[in-house]
Amino acid sequence: ARLHALIPAAGTGSRAGTAQPKQYEPLAGRALVLHTLEALGGVSRLASILVVVSSGDSLMPRGAGWQVAACGGDTRAASVGNGLAELQARGAGEDDWVLVHDAARCLVTPAQVDRLIDECLADEVGGLLAVPLADTLKAAQDGRATQTLPREGKWLAQTPQMFRLGVLRRALAQAGAGVTDEASAIEALGLRPRLVAGSAQNFKVTWPEDFALAQAVLESRKR
Ligand code: CTP
Ligand code: MG
Repeated sequence: ARLHALIPAAGTGSRAGTAQPKQYEPLAGRALVLHTLEALGGVSRLASILVVVSSGDSLMPRGAGWQVAACGGDTRAASVGNGLAELQARGAGEDDWVLVHDAARCLVTPAQVDRLIDECLADEVGGLLAVPLADTLKAAQDGRATQTLPREGKWLAQTPQMFRLGVLRRALAQAGAGVTDEASAIEALGLRPRLVAGSAQNFKVTWPEDFALAQAVLESRKR
């Protein structure tokens, strides 16, 4: 079975507050998504990289190391589902592994992805990068804490999330548009995705202040 990366990049980035979608904002001199693609380009076991953009997108850079499909949907789950169909149309098999990775998670490193691959190849289900919850977790109502939930055994899901193409397609089709990651669709099938310890630095650029944080991480790695 081969390994493919699928990069959903069809969002509008509404929470980031930028004029253009966040994945195209300049970061350390080039579009944010190019940092994401550079990291994945450093993962030697990937047979292909497919970026899903929305129809009419004119901002996605083209390059030799990746392909672009304008099959984005209204939700992240729809964009991933359409991307999986596109991967299959381009020759990927049901048993091939797909690593779904957010375009907006531009600080992932090849070493983290390699660790995910190592652990998931030895696992029939697959899995995801994740970090154990560091802060105390509150349930809230009307802006007031009602309860403190135990943080033991709770993890923050990141990407990449690595599953078999055929299983993931069926899982997402059954789960519908509400799921915000692949693992939740797999869990709904009764399967148990493996949690592979990632790094807090692999955060998703989401809010306006995240651009400066991402820039600082990139600069710290140059030294
Ligand atoms: N994404 C996508 N198709 C969508 C929505 C999101 O491909 N319909 C992608 C985004 O481009 C991003 C990743 O999924 O790379 C993670 O989603 P998120 O961080 O929520 O990005 P946006 O939906 O663009 O941002 P927001 O929710 O703030 O609008
Ligand atoms: Mg979103």
